[in-house]
This record gives sequence, C-alpha cells and structure tokens, in this order.
Amino acid sequence: MTNVLMISPGFPLEIGFFTRALARTGATVIGIGDQPVDAMPATARDHLAHYEHVPLADTRRVLEALTGLARNVRIDQVECLWEPYVVLAATIREHLGLPGMTVEQATRFRDKEVMKKVLDEAGIRTPRHAGAETVAEVWEAAEVVGYPLIVKPVDGAGSADTYRVDTPTRLAEVQPMLAHVRRVSVEEFVEGEEFTHDTVCGGGDILFENVSWYQPRPLEQRSHEWVSPMTIALRDKTDPDLADGIEMGRQVIRALGHTSGFTHMEWYRMADGEVVFGEIGARPPGARTVDVMNYATDADLFVTWALAVTTGTAPPLGHRYNAASIFKRAQGSGRISRIEGLDRLLREEGDKVCVVDLLPVGAPRRDWRATLLSDGMVIARDPDLDELMRVLRRFATELQLFAE
Ligand SMILES: Nc1ncnc2c1ncn2[C@@H]1O[C@H](COP(=O)(O)OP(=O)(O)OP(=O)(O)O)[C@@H](O)[C@H]1O
Ligand SMILES: [Mg+2]
Repeated sequence: MTNVLMISPGFPLEIGFFTRALARTGATVIGIGDQPVDAMPATARDHLAHYEHVPLADTRRVLEALTGLARNVRIDQVECLWEPYVVLAATIREHLGLPGMTVEQATRFRDKEVMKKVLDEAGIRTPRHAGAETVAEVWEAAEVVGYPLIVKPVDGAGSADTYRVDTPTRLAEVQPMLAHVRRVSVEEFVEGEEFTHDTVCGGGDILFENVSWYQPRPLEQRSHEWVSPMTIALRDKTDPDLADGIEMGRQVIRALGHTSGFTHMEWYRMADGEVVFGEIGARPPGARTVDVMNYATDADLFVTWALAVTTGTAPPLGHRYNAASIFKRAQGSGRISRIEGLDRLLREEGDKVCVVDLLPVGAPRRDWRATLLSDGMVIARDPDLDELMRVLRRFATELQLFAE
C-alpha cells in the first residue's frame, strides 16, 4: 500500500477528481492544504485518510506539520497538481528524503528563465530571451532581444502582466504596469499558431500524449472580451504539421528530467513551419482541459494519472475524437439576464455536445480577465476536425449571453 501526500487535495475543484482517483486505485491519500475541511469538495474529503490544514505559503509551518506527521505514518511520495506549489512539493520531498522531483528540477518548471536556459543547453529552439529585474535591465534585454517583443513575469500564469511590445515608446509605457513584478522575461515575439503538448509520465516513460490547439492565441483570448476562447484537443497526432512540436515536447521532457506525472507544454508553429518552445508546467492543463482530453479519448485521465504516479504504468489511450472547450463571455455587466441561441444549437448540433456549463440567469458575471472559465463553457467533439470547427464557430457566434 502506497501512502501519498497530496498537496491541496481539493483546490482548485478539479484536483478533487485526482484525489479520488488516487484513493480508488488503492493508495492511502493524506492531504495537506490551505482549504478548511468544510470548504473541501466531497470528491477530495471523502477520499482522504487524514488532512493537515496548514497555510501552504508558509513553508516552515508545512515542514513542521509534516515532520510530526511522518513520525506516525510512513509517507512514500508527494504529489502536487497545482502550479504554485510544485516547488513546495519538491522541498517536502527533500525534507523527508523521498524520491521524485527535486527543488532544482521543480524550479526549471517554475522559473521561465531557468527553464529556457536549460533547454537552450539541450539545443531546443526557445524564443530569444533575457531575464530582467530593474527598469535598466529591461531596456538592456530589449536591445538584445529586439522588437516586437513580449514582457512577462518569470513565473506568470493566465497571461497576467504579459505585454506585446512593438516599439521603445510602448516599452516605456508598459514599464510602470510591471512595477509590481519582481522578475520578468523579455522574449522575442513569436508570430504563429499556438499548440500544447500535454503528457502523463510514469516510471520515466511518456504514457499518454495530447496536442491541443488554441484558438485564438491565449494572449488574444485575454485581450478581447468578445472572443470565445477555444482549446481543441486534436485527434490526429500523426498530422505532419504537429510532428516537430511533438518531437520537441519529448526532448523537453527528457532535458528537464521529468519522469512522473503530468506535463503541460506550450509551443508555437511559425508560418514557415519552424517550431518554437513556449513554456512548460509540471501539472495538467487547466480550464477543464482534462475533461476535454477525457472526451477526446473516452477515457478517465484522473485514473490514468493515479496509476502512472503510483505504479509507473497505465493502460494506453488513443484519441477517438477531436474534442474542444469553448468559453463564453456575456455582453453587459452585472447579472446574467438571458441566454440566446442555446436551444436551437442543441436541437441542431446536440449530438456533438458533451457538456453545457453556463452560468444560470441571475448569477453574477465572472471576471473574464481573471478566469478563463468566464461566464461558462461548452465541450463538443467530433471525429472530423472541420466538422468540429464548424460546430464551434456556431457556438462562438450564435450562443449569446447577456447581463444587466
Ligand atoms: N515569446 C512570445 N511570443 C509570442 N507570444 C507570446 C510569447 N510569450 C508569451 N506569449 C503569449 O502570451 C501568452 C501567455 O504567455 P505564457 O504562456 O508564457 O504565460 P502564462 O501566463 O504562464 O500562460 P498560462 O495561461 O498558460 O499559464 C502565450 O500563450 C502567448 O499567447
Ligand atoms: Mg501559457
């Protein structure tokens, strides 16, 4: 029997499904997190053998709590699926002398400058880049990198504080907006399409691979409220247009020494076909993309992950469909007042629709800049990509939410 320490087992919500899968595959799951027990979803709470409620931002307190706990129970491994605590998980492993990703390895996934340096040494094509802490260093970095460029936090998420900068004048304008960011990455702006390479690894092997296509590019998704962002998990991984990206994904995992658990890499394909690395996290893709991959494969990746990290292997999965999420943003502010087009779309395209999860009338709008979930989402699938794109375009234009 394996005793697994799960960091933040019920937050964000999706992690509860991983916690439950771990327990169902036979592991004893011990949770540690910020979340009060009462606030935890049942998917997590009902499957924990024990829970330590400790502020995760306070590493000293976390280690103290675990030192006490480890006197009473054997902890075999530490799992973390939530980006902010990937390094904490590694710190706990080192503290308790457990196998798995070290702090040095975890940092390569959390610091975008360290990440790109390691990958440069491994011969991966990263965007031209330089790290900067002060205003003067940003100007120096811009000289080296050239325009257009991107300035973003070294440990950012959700395109927060990320700016495309085309001229020095714009760089001067953007600088004050970055005053609260301690360290930034200045990068060559890569013009192209954006894809992911997501994996579940176990025992040092890649056990599952997924490629998603973002429509439009995430920075565009986050810049224009009227956009309905889509993430499309692609069925045909043998498509020659994806081959170089998938190969890069495999090389990156090797270079970073990742052996167990999820990875979520983003890469760009330029118009001339050149493939450029974007970033990588040691975690699953967010915004319900695990659900999307489940609909694409007709499988349960929560279980695949649990088996992979506890046994080092998992049954192979294949993509039977293209599956996609599409997020909707209401027009107007305040509370959702009406939803138009849904009945017609479900009548005409319902056989392709897997999930409809829109805010109900009366609910306050979510902040679309703060969460990709926006005012709700739909998941659809089809074996044929053109057919799926046709359906998605209909949901983008004909499904409309209004707020007042
Ligand atoms: N060098 C670049 N060239 C072109 N676009 C870029 C570049 N760097 C970032 N972007 C744009 O900004 C988005 C966010 O950047 P990045 O993925 O590095 O940060 P993030 O905030 O960690 O993203 P996530 O939402 O995946 O957590 C990218 O998806 C891309 O659209
Ligand atoms: Mg990203």
